[in-house]
Amino acid sequence: MEEQQKSSHVVLVTVTFQGHINAALQLATILHSKGFSITIVHLELNSPNPSNYPEFTFVSIPDNLTESQLSDKDIPGLVRRVNKNCAAPLQQCLEKILHSHHHISAVIYDSFMFCAQPIVDDLGLPGVTLCTHSALGLLFYHVFPQLNEKDCISGLESPELQALQLQGFHALSSQNPTEAGMEVGAAFANALKSSSAIIVNSMEFLELEVLSKIKQYLPTPIFIVGPLHKLAPTMCNSLCTEDNKCISWLNKQSPKSVIYVSFGSIVNIDKQELIETAWGLSNSKQPFLWVARPSMDRGSEWTESLLNGLEERMGERGFIVKWAPQKEVLAHAAVGGFWSHCGWNSTIESICEGVPMICRPFFGDQILNASYICNVWKIGLELQNLERGNIERTIKRLMVDMEGNYIRKRAMDLKEKAAFYLMEDGSTSGSFDGLAKHISSV
Ligand code: UDX
Repeated sequence: MEEQQKSSHVVLVTVTFQGHINAALQLATILHSKGFSITIVHLELNSPNPSNYPEFTFVSIPDNLTESQLSDKDIPGLVRRVNKNCAAPLQQCLEKILHSHHHISAVIYDSFMFCAQPIVDDLGLPGVTLCTHSALGLLFYHVFPQLNEKDCISGLESPELQALQLQGFHALSSQNPTEAGMEVGAAFANALKSSSAIIVNSMEFLELEVLSKIKQYLPTPIFIVGPLHKLAPTMCNSLCTEDNKCISWLNKQSPKSVIYVSFGSIVNIDKQELIETAWGLSNSKQPFLWVARPSMDRGSEWTESLLNGLEERMGERGFIVKWAPQKEVLAHAAVGGFWSHCGWNSTIESICEGVPMICRPFFGDQILNASYICNVWKIGLELQNLERGNIERTIKRLMVDMEGNYIRKRAMDLKEKAAFYLMEDGSTSGSFDGLAKHISSV
């Protein structure tokens, strides 16, 4: 089959966020190993580094975005802007690629770039959606919004998932979707309808019931291809410079003693939460490694002085970086817990290393992921009150108390399952063969 695919050409359209670029490049790496030639279409802001992938063609499209818009708290508004600004340039770009290559087997586009689907429909090309969130996110955002609460809650069979659904349903519906949120949701749902397949970076055993439910509602073929970071692990796709000094610091810490704190690449934190986070970490007496990105509000003089003060007070007990080599950090023997915003990549990476979590979701699918972590897989604790005393207690519950031992044990069990899943022939490799066949046949 690989010979036949040598001439097959796949175009991947990605967006500007770290978690999304990672997934696209990892998927591209695997498809390339299966014989596909690859073009990556990306936005100008936050371009990936082409020199890491000499075998791919990179094309950037104008996005008309500014750095400061990327720190916007209104994510649906930002996604709407991205699609609005990029639709015409993407169309021109695909036409140009078609003209020079004569053939595109499929256009795989990030689910945030739903403007791609009507364009590929117009050009007569097959479009495939790449979800960088869980299958549960797919169910909640694109299947359940069309149902009422009763159908939604009775949708899944097991009590844990029913509880999760109820919580997720209320969390999502209580977020009062903005006009942008509704527009983006509807556009995405429309795109899915004509998409020829859906790719999800997940592992089947994590989401069996959810997957079977999606299949009842959506006829579109779904390929579960994760965990992508383990299947295409060699490349560094970081948009920021990783501070490797934190690894030398981790080398000096006792096994499982460090709480790693990171809130991904998009979320913003307000001043009060930064203060409570700093005091909670300080009062917990646990060693910590904290990723405080400049765009997380670190740029301000005020935040810098808070962080400098904390580092001075903590001495060797705390380490603060602007960006960490997260996968290496999570795999380090000294790391015993991950306080996270529960982005899907962070969640999957933590599961694969058996690191239990403290969950502080901010918006969207992070709320569902936190619920999965705390209520279904039971490998984490939810941080419900962002006050320093509660932060200190939650860190101790996870890192020191007996309760934490049970959670850690379950996290290790899940890690083993993930390792077994990765070793098994047929599961992930079968999905990729199925995907490759699908792309070659559409
Ligand atoms: C976004 C959304 O926030 C999230 O809800 C959705 O599930 C995916 O897209 P992001 O906020 O970037 O993701 O979080 P996440 O999905 O966790 O991805 C962050 C990536 O950056 C991870 O792969 C992580 O390893 C990497 N990272 C993060 C680093 O390499 N270093 C860091 O210091 C922090």
